Amino acid sequence: MPPTLKPAVTFSEEKDLEASQLLGLFHQAPWSKDRNLADAKNMLRHTDVVLCAWDGDHLVGFGRVLTDFVYRATIWDVIVDKAYQNRGIGTDIVRRILNHPRLKQVELFWLCTRRPGFYEKLGFSSKDQTGMVWSRSNRARTE
Ligand SMILES: CC(C)(COP(=O)(O)OP(=O)(O)OC[C@H]1O[C@@H](n2cnc3c(N)ncnc32)[C@H](O)[C@@H]1OP(=O)(O)O)[C@@H](O)C(=O)NCCC(=O)NCCS
Repeated sequence: MPPTLKPAVTFSEEKDLEASQLLGLFHQAPWSKDRNLADAKNMLRHTDVVLCAWDGDHLVGFGRVLTDFVYRATIWDVIVDKAYQNRGIGTDIVRRILNHPRLKQVELFWLCTRRPGFYEKLGFSSKDQTGMVWSRSNRARTE
């Protein structure tokens, strides 16, 4: 598809999507490339809000939220199929999360990213906040 043509993308919040389709996306990013089907299914079961982008029945984008629905929400695993990037789909996923009716009371959204520029355009800021990470896999490598 020529890069200037925006695909007819639709959005859904179904948690019972085929985890194998999701793995197809996860395998495109360095931080999620080793994920497996059983864990992805388990993750979907325990996730509070899911946002999917579809081109027909092909999953082309994903994002998810863990939250108490009041004080805090964290956004995870925002990812768009390489062939569909730079057409506004990732932006749309994050905007749909921020404007989601079930999340409208949430005081603060937090995320961890290697693409700060992408999120700054959406109003996220790293000022006055320091994120820290404890990684089980990193610790296993050094112990
Ligand atoms: C980060 C990611 C989710 C962004 O998804 P995307 O659909 O490409 O995002 P968008 O198209 O909304 O925005 C990307 C860029 O395209 C630009 N853009 C948006 N709509 C556009 C359009 N219609 N035409 C051309 N460019 C457009 C945006 O301004 C943005 O520019 P930037 O790179 O300077 O920020 C995607 O690159 C991705 O999946 N990367 C790999 C996984 C990853 O790193 N995820 C982040 C985890 S925190």
